Amino acid sequence: MTAEPLVTTTLPPDLDRDRLPRHVAVIMDGNGRWAQRRGLPRIMGHRQGVDTLKKLLRTCNDWGIGALTAYAFSTENWGRPHAEVDFLMTLFERVLRQELAEMNAEGVRIQFVGNLQSLPASLQAEIARAVQLTHENPGICFTIATNYGGRQEIVQACQAIAAEVQLGKLAPEDIDEHLFSRHLYTADLADPDLLIRTSGEMRISNFLLWQLAYAELYVTDTLWPDFHLDEFHQALSDYQQRHRRFGKV
Ligand code: IPE
Ligand code: IPE
Ligand code: MG
Repeated sequence: MTAEPLVTTTLPPDLDRDRLPRHVAVIMDGNGRWAQRRGLPRIMGHRQGVDTLKKLLRTCNDWGIGALTAYAFSTENWGRPHAEVDFLMTLFERVLRQELAEMNAEGVRIQFVGNLQSLPASLQAEIARAVQLTHENPGICFTIATNYGGRQEIVQACQAIAAEVQLGKLAPEDIDEHLFSRHLYTADLADPDLLIRTSGEMRISNFLLWQLAYAELYVTDTLWPDFHLDEFHQALSDYQQRHRRFGKV
């Protein structure tokens, strides 16, 4: 791997530092279409998409955004052709291995959400290593949703809570929104303020169903591999124009 010079960018002056989203979530969609439009196999889009994510992570860290959560693989994505699923699992593992030292040096704290036990053992090992190495880092909290499904997450939280009730550790009336949130994979993470979805699809696709309750949505037709910094800047400008009412007047 050739080392790229580390370019740190500063927050564009038209953005208000005090009104940045604390947590940005992204549905990185459109890799396959990006490749197909170039006459390339879909997997080339996934490979290119990694580069977009790397740059976005670095920018968020530079600009002082506290958390970035990226949807990498949904519980429904197992339904894709074998070869594509295999490629993705190998890609996640390879990227994690290659990028870990640099992310660690930049202070990134890495965590994963999803049903990780069903991932290939070698990927699970790489995940454990990354989480362990970076868990005390002071920089951005970078969460990768892998084999993640919002419904699956809610069901596993229900099971965990039910087990505590059965053991007599908890009474049904103890269950409230706060307790429920503590049983989700995202227990230690504030809810996203801004959700970005690329490739123009107007749907959530089973991502963070509970946590996105009051997120601001930004959907762009741009395909994920083409989602560059100017457009992220645009998404943040847009976000800063929004009036978040949270149901109030
Ligand atoms: C998103 O791109 C990446 C993953 C779901 C892993 P897609 O692979 O869904 O690309 P499109 O939507 O088919 O173009
Ligand atoms: C959502 O994209 C999942 C990820 C980006 C990992 P999909 O391509 O799987 O979603 P749908 O099928 O368009 O809803
Ligand atoms: Mg897609």
